[in-house]
Amino acid sequence: MDTGLAIEAEGLVKRFKETVAVDGVDLRVPAGTVYGLLGPNGAGKTTVVRMLATLLRPDAGRARVLGHDVVTDADAVRSRVGLTGQYASVDEDLTGTENLEIIARLYGFSPARARQRAAELLGAFQLADAARKQVKTYSGGMRRRIDLAASLVMSPKVLFLDEPTTGLDPRSRNQVWDIVRLLVAEGASVLLTTQYLDEADQLADRIAVIDHGRVIAEGTAPQLKASVGAGTVSLRLADPAQREVAARIVGDVLGTTVHRSSDPAGLDALVPDDADGAAARVLPALHEAGVAVPEFSLGLPSLDEVFLALTGEEPVTDDTSAEPTEVR
Ligand SMILES: Nc1ncnc2c1ncn2[C@@H]1O[C@H](COP(=O)(O)OP(=O)(O)O)[C@@H](O)[C@H]1O
Ligand SMILES: [Mg+2]
Repeated sequence: MDTGLAIEAEGLVKRFKETVAVDGVDLRVPAGTVYGLLGPNGAGKTTVVRMLATLLRPDAGRARVLGHDVVTDADAVRSRVGLTGQYASVDEDLTGTENLEIIARLYGFSPARARQRAAELLGAFQLADAARKQVKTYSGGMRRRIDLAASLVMSPKVLFLDEPTTGLDPRSRNQVWDIVRLLVAEGASVLLTTQYLDEADQLADRIAVIDHGRVIAEGTAPQLKASVGAGTVSLRLADPAQREVAARIVGDVLGTTVHRSSDPAGLDALVPDDADGAAARVLPALHEAGVAVPEFSLGLPSLDEVFLALTGEEPVTDDTSAEPTEVR
């Protein structure tokens, strides 16, 4: 039966000793789309991906990838998915060409066909010049592109990208984003994990926000933003000394907490519900109190603000915590 879903998971659970890494996750990823799994470090993203990619057996729940059960039909799943992770599988001592050729041979390509596929991918990922260099000499962006190329040797229908841009500079990040868009345009389905709110916003058709092993919100980026509040008011004062006065006025008018931004003259606030047009009264109220506001904007909340509103915590966007050790 074709459900139009590339990935379907119900009640996935995974425990590592006393840690409940994944605590009952449901996912429905429509075919031909990018689905974002957005959450801070330790949220359970990699564990979900590893279960879906058949590398870890769920303790409870079930999942199907392209209709194939990840436990009872794991071989069928494995032959249809590509995985690239934070800690991917290319061999640093080998050249780009050697890595791709070995993978292609593992998938049963003939030597000639393997050579051809490696050259194709290296060309497509702008790595032709580095093809004969050892991967350990690659820059971060090149390294991520060879990881991606390695996961695409057999043109998977479903691709798992586990934090594909963590630690990359903005230019390399954009290159990876372009590759992801191209893959989806060619018909692949992508499950992408990320700690970057703007990455999910840019790439994902739908987003599940995951925290402590649970999906705490799901929808398109605009839906998630809208579920949190009517919008966000941001303003910048002419005089930072007036910030406390201004914060009190904005808070009173909107009936909400006002956030002082890192800019000493900046304030922002979520508008909880704008049925009574309170946001429009902010500027006149400030004006009346003699507070000059050279910059004012009213817009949808950012995904950062969505996360803050959903979890009560600022999202963790560094990647410095120790990697978990493997338990067998
Ligand atoms: N192999 C493992 N052994 C023990 N604990 C693990 C293992 N893998 C993950 N964990 C723990 O499970 C939780 C979720 O981890 P993970 O899925 O890697 O999160 P994320 O990818 O969102 O950063 C964390 O508390 C992590 O320490
Ligand atoms: Mg991870």
